[in-house]
Amino acid sequence: MNRREFFLASSATALLPAKGWAMTHLRLKAGPVEARILPESEGSTRMFGFNGMTPGPELRVRQGDRLSVAFENGLDQPSTIHWHGIHLENAMDGVPDLTQAAVRPDETYRYAFDVPYAGTYWYHAHHRSWEQVARGLYGPLIVEEPDPPTVNHDITIVLDDWRLDQAGQLHESFGDLHDFSHAGRMGNFARALFSSALVRHGDRVRLRLINAATARVFSVTITGGIGKVVAHDGMPLAVPVPLGDVLLAPAQRTDLILDVAGPISFALPTREGPYPLGTISVSGSNPAPFDTPIRPLPRARVPEPDPDRAVRLGLVMQGGAMGGRHRGDDFWAFNDLSGMSEAPWHRFARGETARITLRNDTAFPHGIHLHGHHFHEIRDDGSFGHFRDTTLVDRQASRDILCVFDNPGKWLLHCHTLGHQASGMKTWVEVI
Ligand code: C2O
Ligand code: CU
Repeated sequence: MNRREFFLASSATALLPAKGWAMTHLRLKAGPVEARILPESEGSTRMFGFNGMTPGPELRVRQGDRLSVAFENGLDQPSTIHWHGIHLENAMDGVPDLTQAAVRPDETYRYAFDVPYAGTYWYHAHHRSWEQVARGLYGPLIVEEPDPPTVNHDITIVLDDWRLDQAGQLHESFGDLHDFSHAGRMGNFARALFSSALVRHGDRVRLRLINAATARVFSVTITGGIGKVVAHDGMPLAVPVPLGDVLLAPAQRTDLILDVAGPISFALPTREGPYPLGTISVSGSNPAPFDTPIRPLPRARVPEPDPDRAVRLGLVMQGGAMGGRHRGDDFWAFNDLSGMSEAPWHRFARGETARITLRNDTAFPHGIHLHGHHFHEIRDDGSFGHFRDTTLVDRQASRDILCVFDNPGKWLLHCHTLGHQASGMKTWVEVI
């Protein structure tokens, strides 16, 4: 990223528009909003949002709760909501033409599903997502542990970038074919939005980072706190690891637990130095700081894979600018096929384990997301890596994942660079 491309980054802190509330029965209305993403003095930006705000309201539920949301479409185009990372029943997954018909303007659609695993998730539009998500149709979805770790603050941090014109309005280049065939729609202004931005020295804080960008892989340098990474994509690490730079493909999440040693600053490393994303300020100090170690979050009770009996499959990412040829009919393809086919790429018997080699034969990185499941990343030495719902595969690299397909239904598998998804890099699997 070229720092000069960016609007002047402001030191002022951007707050998420609403604090979370405990509620399992609610209404989300999509519609146009005037958003405050620019520094104070620079006015507002016309975007889309939920309930008058972007990001939409932070939904907070308890593990095991049933979430029920009446989605009202106040846009002038169809839409749906996808609950990214939740192992929900297939009919509630929000994928137009696969699990439901898109919700037309002025219509209401009720989503209702159980949330089996605690963690940091998010919801976003899944119709014309390359435009609707870029316009702001998303929000955090936090599933609390029955017995959450004790911290002084639990703060959600949404990372995003926007392509703005000189007037601070979204550039109308949605669906630009050059973006689709290259790295996707990159913004020229980026920041971190915080659900709360004031802590005390010595406080212990849980930070939940969500990359809501449609294309940018965020690398984030965090200073001012000492602590550990405790979860990726909602799922706890068995052994928390010391905090280093955090790398988040579009749609990925990371949870941290830190002890505050100063203002907590977030920056994007660039060739021309760090680009500031935002800061959580410090005021006062905690008279009784924690002296206990940071412990792992409670394990999720997920089915264990059986690696020895796994079916072996391969998925090759192809196409894009500077990529090789393929036989698909759009920019991008998986295994020589662009976009959705009549039949699923593969059918799994419920409970079956698969080891899938994801090979990136293109000149760009891709964050590949499987709906309705998490999977184990397999390291080069064969050991289990992180347990995620979205995995970043670098250009010309390859990664094996191991997944127990235990959730019946039709599930999308796609690149979360949403312009890539729209121009061929998606397929689906069926679990029966
Ligand atoms: Cu986060 Cu198919 O989506
Ligand atoms: Cu991609």
